[in-house]
Amino acid sequence: MKGTWSMEKPAFYITTPIYYPSADLHIGHAYCTTIADTIARYKRARGYDVQFITGSDEHGQKIQRKAEENGVQPIDYTNKIVTDFKELWKLLGVSYTSFVRSTSPEHQKTVQTLLQKVYDQGDIYKKDYEGLYCVPCESFWTQHQVDEAGGVCPDCGRPVENMKESSYFFRTSKYADRLLAYIEENPDFIQPASRRNEMINFIKQGLDDLCISRTSFDWGIPVPWDPKHVVYVWFDALLCYFTGIGFGQDMDKFNKFWPANLHLVGKEIVRFHTIIWPCMLMAMGFPLPKMVYGHGWLVVDGEKMSKSKGNVVDPVQPIKEFGPDAVRYFLLREINLGSDGNYSRKALIKRINADLANDLGNLQYRTVSMIEKYHKGIVHKTVVDNATDATFRALTETTVTDYEKAMDAYDLNGSIRAIWNFIGAANKYIDETTPWLLAKDEAKKDELSDVMTYNLADAVRTIAILISSMMPFTAPKIYTQLGLAVPEQFDLAEAVWGNLPDGTKVQKGQPIFPRIQEEETEK
Ligand code: MSP
Repeated sequence: MKGTWSMEKPAFYITTPIYYPSADLHIGHAYCTTIADTIARYKRARGYDVQFITGSDEHGQKIQRKAEENGVQPIDYTNKIVTDFKELWKLLGVSYTSFVRSTSPEHQKTVQTLLQKVYDQGDIYKKDYEGLYCVPCESFWTQHQVDEAGGVCPDCGRPVENMKESSYFFRTSKYADRLLAYIEENPDFIQPASRRNEMINFIKQGLDDLCISRTSFDWGIPVPWDPKHVVYVWFDALLCYFTGIGFGQDMDKFNKFWPANLHLVGKEIVRFHTIIWPCMLMAMGFPLPKMVYGHGWLVVDGEKMSKSKGNVVDPVQPIKEFGPDAVRYFLLREINLGSDGNYSRKALIKRINADLANDLGNLQYRTVSMIEKYHKGIVHKTVVDNATDATFRALTETTVTDYEKAMDAYDLNGSIRAIWNFIGAANKYIDETTPWLLAKDEAKKDELSDVMTYNLADAVRTIAILISSMMPFTAPKIYTQLGLAVPEQFDLAEAVWGNLPDGTKVQKGQPIFPRIQEEETEK
């Protein structure tokens, strides 16, 4: 019996990086956001109260220069790109709860309040500084690091600039030992393990204090006690993770959701999230996030996408051509979270035809068509006690268990494999039980009912619930064809055998994933 009081849902907080609003938005950005969205939707389906934020990191020299090149004010430049970001996320079905702009007044307040606190407690000091700076990466490097990389930025290989100014420094070095102990005591904090080892080695070499202010340009948040300086973009951007859950505006909400469960970031920015960010949090007196996961890159023919290489893949084009769920599925299926993965149009079409049109689409279409053809479109809950059917019925439970285990470990690829094993078994079950022969035999009426209405239709219903996190546009289509009302929120608690109501009338529609003709791929 359901209780009469409502229990508060457990909190779950996930973030994507706060993206630079640069014009070369590409499918690599869609990759990270799709993973985060899938995890956020999964947690909602498990009954969590989820905050999921993304946003735009709009300050800094790089953006100021881009705006100058375009002859516009930085804010006009970023306004336009932020509109494009939001359109892309809508097209892709990204269910963020907050889009944080680092230029918002709430965010400026977060940064200034916390920076002042750290300054007041003596963790920030001023000194003359001469160093090497990479503008595109907004990163400082030592002479030694640049020399080792052959005289260029060790991250992106572009030239670095000599920076000479009087700046404020944050005492990162003071927190190095505490950070190292934290990383060693919390093996889950940095994932995957290879990145964790990299970071441990980096910290062990000794941390330099971090330059956190600039005077050579003014596109940034002013340092509150010395407004000639603007705050270093990373110090500014990382705090978007606070602004996005109401820091300074709604502290109950903030306290409910901080610390974050998962910061999902690309591998090259793990360093900022597992060294600078934790040192900032320790200085500010907040607990550290539970996990930072550094995912690999989406590459094209083995190379990282970049405008200069001319290999940038625009995400809008494939989404418009093949639909958002096909692109989402491809990104989640083709690449293992911790490793790099290749994007190609050919591989995308291959996945659509094999996994979506053939496996999933066929199962759904055959099930609904047969119920219409042999059973007047009505689902009957009839259970026949024979081994084949019992074995198939038991698959719902094992599939859901395998799926949840993989999702809880953020093994999205593994969770897809669990669902597709079930889809494969369901297609095989049709071939083995031959409903078209059962339909000809009056004595097999119950078996037909059982096979088609219950086991198959109910399996397709469960599959719709399981795929609803990764393919949010397809799950409702399947529900509608099964004759079920589309819920506002899919619920994993319903993914148990037997929840399809007796007497449901299916409604056959168009195939959910039509096959892409090979000739078309030549285009
Ligand atoms: N603004 C910073 C993040 C601040 S977070 C407080 C930034 N922005 S970015 O736009 O340059 O990159 C954002 C994310 O996109 C990074 O996690 C990066 O790894 C990811 N990707 C950029 N190119 C990518 C691929 N080709 N593939 C996958 N992810 C990629 O860094």
